[in-house]
Amino acid sequence: MSRYWSAVVHGLTPYVPGEQPKLTKLVKLNTNENPYGPSPRVLDAVRAEVADTLRLYPDPGSDRLCAAIAALHGVAAEQVFVGNGSDEVLAHAFVALLKHERPILFPDISYSFYPVYCGLYEIAYRQIPLTDAFEIRVGDYRSPNGGVIFPNPNAPTGRLLALPEIERLLDGNPDSVIIIDEAYIDFGGESAVGLVARYPQLLVTRTLSKSHALAGLRVGYAIGQAHLIEALKRVKDSFNSYPLDRLAQAGALASIEDHAYFESLCTRVMASRARLASAMAEMGFEVLPSTANFIFAQHPSHDGAELAASLRERSIIVRHFKNPARIAPFLRITVGTDAQIDALLVALKAIVNC
Ligand SMILES: Cc1ncc(COP(=O)(O)O)c(C=O)c1O
Repeated sequence: MSRYWSAVVHGLTPYVPGEQPKLTKLVKLNTNENPYGPSPRVLDAVRAEVADTLRLYPDPGSDRLCAAIAALHGVAAEQVFVGNGSDEVLAHAFVALLKHERPILFPDISYSFYPVYCGLYEIAYRQIPLTDAFEIRVGDYRSPNGGVIFPNPNAPTGRLLALPEIERLLDGNPDSVIIIDEAYIDFGGESAVGLVARYPQLLVTRTLSKSHALAGLRVGYAIGQAHLIEALKRVKDSFNSYPLDRLAQAGALASIEDHAYFESLCTRVMASRARLASAMAEMGFEVLPSTANFIFAQHPSHDGAELAASLRERSIIVRHFKNPARIAPFLRITVGTDAQIDALLVALKAIVNC
């Protein structure tokens, strides 16, 4: 606290990111990073950018990257917006597209950054409870609203909402923006990007942090009709004209272009997810069906906080959320390498059997 703070800062409840430990020996399964490295072509492209040209500002519009993303998704370049991680893209979208008189709607169990943006930009919101099976029921999002946002698959549950349901939501909600946060869609889900041409109120956000193994580069993007993208650009150019530095633009472009490597990463993570989920189910865990690079699981006789602490004692870190109470029994566990999963399974066996 300080008397020099603005009233806005006094009122903030900032997001708390998952721990980025200083100890390197930990088995780190807490922030949904990819356990494998990025494409070798990314590393080459980034190295090639370490040059005298760093004295110059980067391209403010990241035009080459936007063109590559547009080609990948079969949309026009003016339908693409890139930012410093999808968190920044989302932040701009909140103020550009979701700040209206009416409250916005999002699930009660969802990405915990959404209420933080609402606090920062003074946007009213209403949280819609997931069903008992932790599913989004689109019929619950019918009330007049300033916008709707949720991740698909949802975080931290990993549950996917089928595309026809998203279409039903769009059909029933033509007057405000619907943002589908597809941070984890590449791990087996069907993207809503194909609906952008038909729905002027749809914005889809993506990140290279998970499926492209580039959390450290900070690149995210949005796809929507040009009028929505223009709103994001207006906010960006009122905030920071150069959100992606030269290294990020070059690395992200190389990653988008190396589609074969990207697909191999997703395939490996999905195979490991299946192995992890079935091994944990055998130990008595209830594992929610996941279409993400993490699983969400609870054990009938072990509390989530206690399990997370016991794993930590064994140098394994996973994510536990105290709130809301309904998810306190659960652990969110990032899909790791085979060796990391083996270590986790050995530790869990020791904990749940004793
Ligand atoms: C649902 C969801 N959306 C967005 C993000 C932000 O991703 P980034 O800022 O790394 O692109 C995350 C990160 O964990 C997430 O879980």
